[in-house]
Amino acid sequence: MHKKFWMILLSILVVMSFSLAAFAEDAKKEAKEDKPEYDYIGVDKCALKPCHGKDPAYETWLETKHAYAFDSLSAEKQKDPKYIKYYTTGETKRGKLLPNIQCEACHGPGSDYKSMKIMKDREQSIANGLLIPDAETCMGCHNADSPEEVAEFGKDFDWEEMIATGVHALPTEDDKK
Ligand code: HEC
Ligand code: HEC
Repeated sequence: MHKKFWMILLSILVVMSFSLAAFAEDAKKEAKEDKPEYDYIGVDKCALKPCHGKDPAYETWLETKHAYAFDSLSAEKQKDPKYIKYYTTGETKRGKLLPNIQCEACHGPGSDYKSMKIMKDREQSIANGLLIPDAETCMGCHNADSPEEVAEFGKDFDWEEMIATGVHALPTEDDKK
């Protein structure tokens, strides 16, 4: 009688521990799939001295409205989800909202392409999440659904004109050498 009882209890425990392990494994897998692959690092990191600190792309971006679009909104609009969507870069995995249209709003979250080794190699950067923006990137914000102030720049959108004036200085062929 005693022996049988212990045997049953033991088998129950064994089965339970197996299913618990399987459950934990499933939960882990799910958590991984839910997370976006890359994380934002923020423009302060992009603008570190050895990186884009002295890059004309950074210096001229600072002069565009993108660099301070959120900061110049009224306090009321800064709390309005309709504006937050278009005037911010995105949220880091830790939940920090990055204000304004920073580098990563157009070039993709930089967690995996930020290292010097990868950044120096265009192809590797792209393989690790760097986006080379095109007109569609811009239209993601400059479209009919966005607040009027943003939609305005999407009307009669001319790519050549837009990137010549609205983004930042682009590297010349000489810079790339
Ligand atoms: C509003 C969108 C936008 C923002 C914000 C932006 N860029 Fe760009 N960036 C572009 C576009 C568009 C190009 C040109 C893509 C092409 O060559 O067709 C570009 C090209 C570049 C290039 C050349 C890439 C290559 O290999 O061709 C560098 C470097 C660059 N950006 C750095 C930056 C940095 C640093 C920041 C932040 C300080 C930044 N960008 C912010 C849109 C943006
Ligand atoms: C994440 C959203 C977002 C993306 C992506 C975006 N923009 Fe903007 N853009 C804005 C906002 C917000 C403003 C500021 C609107 C205002 O309040 O005046 C703005 C302003 C502008 C302006 C006018 C201000 C100025 O500095 O001259 C131009 C031009 C412009 N964007 C071009 C572009 C181009 C070109 C691209 C793509 C390469 C692009 N934008 C991508 C949100 C975005």
